[in-house]
Amino acid sequence: MTDDVLAKFDRIAAGYSEHDYADPERYAQRRADVILALGPAVEPGATVVDLGCGDGIMAAPLVRYGLRYRGVDASSGMVEAARLRNPRLPFDVARSEEYLPPEPVDLTICLRSFYYPDDRVAFFRRVRSYTRTKFVFDFRPRVHPASSVAADLRAAGFTRHAFRAFFLPQLSRLPAPTHPAVEALEHLGPLSLLAARRFGRIFCAAWD
Ligand SMILES: C[S@@+](CC[C@H](N)C(=O)[O-])C[C@H]1O[C@@H](n2cnc3c(N)ncnc32)[C@H](O)[C@@H]1O
Repeated sequence: MTDDVLAKFDRIAAGYSEHDYADPERYAQRRADVILALGPAVEPGATVVDLGCGDGIMAAPLVRYGLRYRGVDASSGMVEAARLRNPRLPFDVARSEEYLPPEPVDLTICLRSFYYPDDRVAFFRRVRSYTRTKFVFDFRPRVHPASSVAADLRAAGFTRHAFRAFFLPQLSRLPAPTHPAVEALEHLGPLSLLAARRFGRIFCAAWD
């Protein structure tokens, strides 16, 4: 990741989620639901670190689930915006690939940003070293083939993973009555994952 990328995120940090998501609260809540549902369970009181947290949009839904949240971002502008949005929560300015939390965490998440570290296997290995229960991240399979992501997880020492399609659009607001149908489409197993290669994203939970 170059300094230009970080300078861009510094510039767009104020109002980032309102600009980047058609329906930020709903999108964050749905992502939190998937993070909790995929892979091994994490209980209320568990700790979560959010790598590449942006302006901290995931904090509120995860805190509502009873998790103890900490955010990390390489852009100081984003961390400032995240602190404004979540004045009582801890945020650190750091690169995901260099970050070590003060103590091991139960859950690590990395949304729309797992691709920034240059050495992905080393990054996954580092996350695995401090993550007790699971690591959850998302990606667009058109850009990052699921098979190569799975191979990198194995190379980093994760022995188990699960994929789930995610079809809620980021840039358009769907009428509420369509939400259950969109969610149902995510539960069609291999068919959903195939469709995600054209239309959606994949969430991955990795553990062990
Ligand atoms: C596309 S935004 C996603 C933000 C947030 N996770 C979300 O889903 O709304 C990517 C974020 O990753 C941050 N970022 C880029 N490279 C990073 C790195 N190497 N380590 C930590 N954060 C990084 C950017 O500053 C930006 O806030």
